[in-house]
Amino acid sequence: MFERNPRHVVTYPLCAPVAQSDRAPGYEPGGWRFKSSPVQMLIEKIPSGPFSTNAYVLACPKTKQAVVVDPAPESAPLISKFVSAQGLTPVSILITHSHWDHIGDVAALQALYNIPVLIHHDDAPNLIKPGADGLPCWLNIPGIEPSGYLLDGQKIKFGKCELEVIYTPGHSPGGVCFYIPKEHALISGDTLFKGTIGNLSFPTARPHLMWDSLKRLADLPAETVVYPGHGPNTTIGEEPWLSNAESMFT
Ligand SMILES: [Fe+2]
Repeated sequence: MFERNPRHVVTYPLCAPVAQSDRAPGYEPGGWRFKSSPVQMLIEKIPSGPFSTNAYVLACPKTKQAVVVDPAPESAPLISKFVSAQGLTPVSILITHSHWDHIGDVAALQALYNIPVLIHHDDAPNLIKPGADGLPCWLNIPGIEPSGYLLDGQKIKFGKCELEVIYTPGHSPGGVCFYIPKEHALISGDTLFKGTIGNLSFPTARPHLMWDSLKRLADLPAETVVYPGHGPNTTIGEEPWLSNAESMFT
């Protein structure tokens, strides 16, 4: 009579065969990139200043060209230290909006690198003359003339990387977000934070424009990582209330 061997153990291969559907262009199964994969942008968050405003350095790892977003008060030494450590070449300063806690070190950074400063036209007055927006500010922030104006849909290249300007008025009249489709990333300024939105009670706020701005963000892919002007990151998918924000915040 046949007896089952009590020592018999069913074994399985340590690694299951990888289904073809697990493969995506440029990626190994498990998430590692092939050397020939698309360029992955460097995104560095640098909080600083009295309101811990998030400046960002976005950089192309192949060419080392970088843009700086929202150089907040006291951020210039931190940004320049990071730029030096990474061997980056800043090519422009981009501003999501001109509230003083987002522009405090624009002049310092421009003096350091002599690069253009870009902002939406409707937020330029407070960059040129800080305090023009009526917000109380106890810091002495130098005014600066913008080098050019950001437009909705404008594409900005740095090295082999590219971002797209999304006009998102509401928190301020000329607020913008910076969308990087290839990286599934959005630099949202003070338009969108984790779980909430920017203040709409400021003198230059445009509450009636905010809701459409948030609806535009709601249309981005759910996996889009949101890098806000203050606080921790979130994703579009984690903020399902975006298209219904008006009823929540009015
Ligand atoms: Fe703001």
